[in-house]
Amino acid sequence: MSDEKQQVSRRQFLNYTLTGVGGFMAAGLLISPIRMAIDPVLKGSSAGDLANVGLAVDDITSEPQRIDWTIDQVDGWYESEVNRSAWVYRNENDEIVAFSPVCKHLGCVVSWEGSDQHPNEYYCPCHDGRYYKDGTNVPGTPPLAPLDEYEQEVKDGMLFLGEPKPRGEA
Ligand code: FES
Repeated sequence: MSDEKQQVSRRQFLNYTLTGVGGFMAAGLLISPIRMAIDPVLKGSSAGDLANVGLAVDDITSEPQRIDWTIDQVDGWYESEVNRSAWVYRNENDEIVAFSPVCKHLGCVVSWEGSDQHPNEYYCPCHDGRYYKDGTNVPGTPPLAPLDEYEQEVKDGMLFLGEPKPRGEA
């Protein structure tokens, strides 16, 4: 009886030992790739930074003007330069407004007064999408939402822009 008890104990001991060692080895094998995979996430991102777009605020008028700049984008281990554009003007309250030119229909690029038939509007040539000067989509045209608006800041008389944010559906 005591022999049988001892045999069961040995078997259990071996089972626990092998399971423990196997589990430890498996964890060691898994941790490195998982750590490597999520490392960029743990490092944080510079996506929230605002960039100097090279436009002095004194040069911003009530007429929308297109500006282009580049940002360094870090996506995991991949670093690249990304081109950005905006339509910038001062509204009737003397506030600076910066719209993304990406059409909210299917992503073509809109232009201020891009159509002779529709002056004082942003125009998307892909499907005749139209937006008023304040970025609101013209009802009855393909876009169903206003143009996204860049987060912004003024430093030392220069305009800094961040990420374009949706303004909600009109
Ligand atoms: S992509 Fe602009 S109207 Fe369709």
